[in-house]
Amino acid sequence: MKFFIDTANLAQIKEANDLGILDGVTTNPSLMAKEGIKGNEAILNHYKTICELVDGDISAEVLSVTYEEMVAEGKILAAIHPNIVVKIPMTKDGIKAIKWFTDNGIKTNCTLVFSAGQAILAAKAGATYLSPFIGRLDDTLWDGVDLIAQIANIYTIQGFQTEILAASIRTPLHIVKCAEAGADVCTCPLDSILGLLKHPLTDIGLAKFIEDAKKM
Ligand code: E4P
Repeated sequence: MKFFIDTANLAQIKEANDLGILDGVTTNPSLMAKEGIKGNEAILNHYKTICELVDGDISAEVLSVTYEEMVAEGKILAAIHPNIVVKIPMTKDGIKAIKWFTDNGIKTNCTLVFSAGQAILAAKAGATYLSPFIGRLDDTLWDGVDLIAQIANIYTIQGFQTEILAASIRTPLHIVKCAEAGADVCTCPLDSILGLLKHPLTDIGLAKFIEDAKKM
């Protein structure tokens, strides 16, 4: 399973990248706004900086809503760096735009996915990645991880090549459950990635080894 970090914060991206286990980055308009990135030039520059920091797929989300505008905007985003993946929302225009990018050899990430039906459509359009939002589903009392398992099963049966990118991860347990359910990628906040390191018995065991090492 690939690990992406889900943030536009450069310090957090660097910290995750320094671990040596990072395969890419996802962003969205809310994450970019949180970092105070405003205006076209600043947005494009920020994506360029992320691409220079991390050698992996970097999702840059279109802000447009019509097919024509998504294609025009996505072309500009894709021109920033070969690792840019154009992130497009799951709408009728979005599906058309994904098909256009597929036909033109540009990678896409279909975002805001909440059902297996949407997953089938995105795969038919040739999306590189599919982003089911599991945390937001959990918030509505549906099981987000169940959706990952359902889509993984459908994609295997049908031989779809689209990679399942579990998004809206809230906890380290989400990452483990998504790995079990067949996600190809998890995009996670830094604290969920670092949370995977933690176990109280590791801390207790290490403290004892350090103490005993002094007696050697
Ligand atoms: C990433 O691609 C998504 O935009 C992100 O994971 C959404 O996360 P949230 O539900 O915590 O906003």
